[in-house]
Amino acid sequence: MKTRIVRRLEKIHNLPTLPEVIHKLGEEIRNPKSDARRVAALIEDDPSMMARILKVVNSAFYGGIEPITSVQQAVSRMGFNAINNIALSTSVFATFDKSGEVGFDRKEFWRHCVCTGIAANIVYNRVRHSISKRYTVDLLHLSGLLHDIGKIILEQFFHDEFRISLRESAKRKIPLFHIELECIGSDHAQVGAWLGKKWKLSREVIEVVRWHHEPDNATEQYRDLAMLCHMANYICNIEKIGDSGDETAPAFFHSVWKRMGLEAADIPPMIEKVKEESEKSEILLAFA
Ligand SMILES: [Fe+2]
Ligand SMILES: [Fe+2]
Repeated sequence: MKTRIVRRLEKIHNLPTLPEVIHKLGEEIRNPKSDARRVAALIEDDPSMMARILKVVNSAFYGGIEPITSVQQAVSRMGFNAINNIALSTSVFATFDKSGEVGFDRKEFWRHCVCTGIAANIVYNRVRHSISKRYTVDLLHLSGLLHDIGKIILEQFFHDEFRISLRESAKRKIPLFHIELECIGSDHAQVGAWLGKKWKLSREVIEVVRWHHEPDNATEQYRDLAMLCHMANYICNIEKIGDSGDETAPAFFHSVWKRMGLEAADIPPMIEKVKEESEKSEILLAFA
């Protein structure tokens, strides 16, 4: 990313910050001595976080057979990483200032993000035989949820240039990230990845955010995840599920089709399923 942009980003004094409990959770999870009881205790210290997590783990997203009634049960059944990812998913919307809407409806933008997470799971289920890596529901959700997070930073802190980018992208029918590079000197993928580093998110999530429009450039280890998110984003854009602010849905590359073992006939059933399941987005949108 250009030094001039990094300098501008570093100067932002009111950058959105994640709740304290998320940082503590991150540290606890990296601690080799950590156990389910300690992780649960951290969450229980924050009653609203506790309520959100229990709501989500019992929702249609994760729909287990038996209801989960305590945080400790949730942690032991789902694992530390899943709980960490769910905690992040339920916190991230509320982190951002709601004022200063520009070219897109914030609620519909969040819907685009949540539905990209839903779509990433659907795409993954379709292509899992073609890829060797295994991904969890929570990681796919989180990746989808965060992929466009850079747009919120651009909207808030590069307001005028971003507004011009949205307009130009729609007028010239060129994908938004190309226009952002032209008008701002950086795009929402670069800016989102920068924020991901600031927030100390996992490397895999940062790579998805950085390369969701150009998955071929992702580090090999993370390329499948970037491709899944790329396709999920494409489906939500062409079907106008939510509003990404990007009127021109960037097409996906030949390499993605090939690597994922997909054919054109695979797309319509995936689209149908995404539409069907997009109603599950309401539960996460309620935390916005
Ligand atoms: Fe994007
Ligand atoms: Fe998107």
